[in-house]
Amino acid sequence: SVSTTVSPVENKTPLSKLKETAGFDGSGNESTVSITVVGASGDLAKKKIFPALFALFYEGFLPKHFTVYGYARSKMTDAELRIMVSKTLTCRIDQRENCGEKMEQFLGRCFYHSGQYDSEKNFAELDKKLKEHEVGRVSNRLFYLSIPPNIFIDAVKCASLSASSGNGWTRVIVEKPFGRDSESSAALTKALKQYLEEDQIFRIDHYLGKELVENLSVLRFSNLIFEPLWSRQYIRNVQLIFSEDFGTEGRGGYFDNYGIIRDIMQNHLLQILALFAMETPVSLDAEDIRNEKVKVLRSMRPVKLDDVVVGQYKSHTRGGINYPSYTDDETVPKGSLTPTFAAAALFIDNARWDGVPFLMKAGKALHTKGAEIRVQFRHVPGNLYNRNFGTDLDRATNELVIRVQPDEAIYLKINNKVPGLGMKLDRSNLNLHYAARYSKEIPDAYERLLLDAIEGERRLFIRSDELDAAWSLFTPFLKELEEKKIIPEYYPYGSRGPVGAHYLAARYKVRWG
Ligand code: NDP
Ligand code: BG6
Repeated sequence: SVSTTVSPVENKTPLSKLKETAGFDGSGNESTVSITVVGASGDLAKKKIFPALFALFYEGFLPKHFTVYGYARSKMTDAELRIMVSKTLTCRIDQRENCGEKMEQFLGRCFYHSGQYDSEKNFAELDKKLKEHEVGRVSNRLFYLSIPPNIFIDAVKCASLSASSGNGWTRVIVEKPFGRDSESSAALTKALKQYLEEDQIFRIDHYLGKELVENLSVLRFSNLIFEPLWSRQYIRNVQLIFSEDFGTEGRGGYFDNYGIIRDIMQNHLLQILALFAMETPVSLDAEDIRNEKVKVLRSMRPVKLDDVVVGQYKSHTRGGINYPSYTDDETVPKGSLTPTFAAAALFIDNARWDGVPFLMKAGKALHTKGAEIRVQFRHVPGNLYNRNFGTDLDRATNELVIRVQPDEAIYLKINNKVPGLGMKLDRSNLNLHYAARYSKEIPDAYERLLLDAIEGERRLFIRSDELDAAWSLFTPFLKELEEKKIIPEYYPYGSRGPVGAHYLAARYKVRWG
């Protein structure tokens, strides 16, 4: 029996294990899943997709009958693909148990087919090979598009016309970027829908697969103490912060066409914001959750140029090491104004959040790497300790921090009496530190998302109306930024970013956490 204290994710375990041993679909027929990684020779496939598939296999989450096919233009044999893939597999979950053996078993299920992305003939050849593994079973097919966006549609067209499943489901995972503004995103959606139904499209935002982002709803909706405070009445501001301590190294070509606002804010941070701010959904069903998220996005004010600060990193020498500027990257055009840093103030014009600034900050080549949500609460009205002891508790308000990564944690800053005979207060943390509390390692976001796609769980994938709403917020501002050729504020590689971010926050009486 399933205990009510078990989390929804843990609830999945028995279900998936059941599938693994039985290998049946819902109707009692034996089924198989063929996973095709389109763009298998690329960076994301090697770094994230194959390792996540192996981790799922290692943990017994993949169905009994499955095959993984790599597809790309590069010439490779099955053996060469296995060598390439084996370099990035790790047994991170439990190094002691049969790691090598499990890897061999997994690699034995990996194959490769070389083909063009716009060739129906090449996809028909893939189809033939897939059928050889699926014989006699219901065939379910998952295509992961791990390729540059300009070839998405060619690949979807060919996969759907020549390699769809004949008797099971066919699903396609699409990687960002989903366009670069409202128009191109709508065109992409329209083109995808020529070949796929909306429920076949799984738009990935890997931040939604991160443990602490998934936990946001649990924190809010299953603890009495948070939900009553979750509004303008008690919350002064919310901060969504992303930082990386390295530049665009190697991805400058892609990045220059997008910039940090499209790369991080319009998707990862905005998705977190929507989950954070949504009303209680009717149920945990994907459509109910996505309905609430889209309402938040549609209640937001479009971003204004005045409410954004942009920056770009410049070279810096520290400890004898010379760190490059953004435009030192050979794939970046000289004189590029693309922001590698941005800070923005956003507002949700609804009853719950009226007037509460949601501040976002995202940057590359900063002094630290991390992602966190900071919730700063209002001060205690007529605070007794301020009056009696002259302490400045108005500034030391409560703050809830959800550290998404690294070193996952949730902590609440409170005012506390320093032990002793006098009356001295300090700020302390009520701390849930994941590494100390949970011994099991946290799965990579791609593991959860791949498993969900295989199981048909759409909760963590972006629906097309969410995407439209997200682009509507940013498109007019991005056009203005680019048309006016706004010069970014230059900040040294490895620094805390432009000071402009502090002025922006100060305008809304906010201090970055
Ligand atoms: P790559 O640039 O490594 O491309 C993947 C594969 O696509 C390449 O190995 C190559 O395979 C093929 N390819 C590359 N350029 C072209 C081209 N111009 N025309 C035709 N085929 C081409 O991409 P990534 O693996 O880095 O990313 C894949 C997708 O995932 C992209 O949409 C990216 O934006 C997204 N993404 C990537 C992340 C990352 O960390 N890398 C993070 C988040 C999203 P071959 O030549 O063998 O056909
Ligand atoms: C990707 C961005 O979506 O997310 C990258 O395109 C960024 O620029 C990456 O580095 C960050 O992901 P994570 O999971 O490493 O925080």
